[in-house]
Amino acid sequence: MSTETKLLPEHKMFDHESYQYKELLPTWPKYNYDPHVELDVKDKGLLADPEMKALLGAATHRDDLTPALGTVLDGIDIRQLSDDQKNELALLTAQRGVVVFHKQEATIHEMIKLAEYFGPLHVHSTTGIPEDPALKGAHVVWNDGTKPQDWINFNRDYFGWHSDQTYEINPPSLTSLKVVTAPKTGGDTLWASGYAVFSSFSPQFQRYLETLSALHSSDMQKQLAIQRGVHIRRPQTDCIHPVVRVHPVTGMKFLFINTAYTRQIVGVPKAESDAILAFLFSQVSACTEYQCRVRWGKDTICFWDNRCCWHTATFDFYPMKRHGLRVMPMGEKPMSVEQYEAKTGKKAKDWYKEKMRLLGEEMDD
Ligand code: SIN
Repeated sequence: MSTETKLLPEHKMFDHESYQYKELLPTWPKYNYDPHVELDVKDKGLLADPEMKALLGAATHRDDLTPALGTVLDGIDIRQLSDDQKNELALLTAQRGVVVFHKQEATIHEMIKLAEYFGPLHVHSTTGIPEDPALKGAHVVWNDGTKPQDWINFNRDYFGWHSDQTYEINPPSLTSLKVVTAPKTGGDTLWASGYAVFSSFSPQFQRYLETLSALHSSDMQKQLAIQRGVHIRRPQTDCIHPVVRVHPVTGMKFLFINTAYTRQIVGVPKAESDAILAFLFSQVSACTEYQCRVRWGKDTICFWDNRCCWHTATFDFYPMKRHGLRVMPMGEKPMSVEQYEAKTGKKAKDWYKEKMRLLGEEMDD
């Protein structure tokens, strides 16, 4: 140990050798992957029993975190899910946005096996992954707690409210994250509902948004990788996606833009695009009634639908460590309202109207 290290207080040192999950720390191997091609992914939620009896019937307790999104299920070991229960997990997550299971012993290998049931795994081009090549599909979230958050250089557009990898042709869908080392307090994750935020707008504004597409780019991610000297494992991608998507399982419309990757609404003046995106981004963080928040316990695993939800971590936990492992199957190529209605012959639904119909209210379409 160097003299310099000896003089540091304990919370400013990270003892790699004695760390329980050292084999799951991030590494940046010089792999080279082929560019992504469009995949035809069928959502497993389409196979589910609409009443979700196998999954909900197995739970000893259900707790809805907020009326809009987030459900905690107790008494289920995600390693033991039958195919029926997995399909119902996909449906429940599509409906509730986030499904939380506490006290889960599943390892990252078991999380990957489960995620592969839902679709081909997204393998990231630049983020840190564990050294084991079998874990290429895992993304490591890691903060060793030795340095206070650098607020001067913190980019809230990139690290704040976002959905993951929306610049891909098939953006990720049913994502799962286990925080293996959680801070004693802090480091919560928040989610916001893309269904509900879209549904809160006037019908006139909704109709206008439904006609738009936007450019999603990995430019900031690539820039960060270059700054950090990280090998880029796949050429970075840009994609144009509808601003309003329809979920293939629920048939509900949701807003599909985020500060980390959405750069411009295409085909409208830049000033108009900037103003609309700024307004949409502001609503994601402002509408607390469409959000939920999870405090990570020992062995909590959260599943979320990365299509119809945004999420953000909370960087308030210095000098504690936070270490998580995330797995993301890829979903379908995004469908606009027009594409969904032409493909299925069904009318895309509105979240608020569906909620009111469930309460027995008459709603016009
Ligand atoms: C992520 O942004 O996917 C990770 C979320 C978290 O660390 O809470």
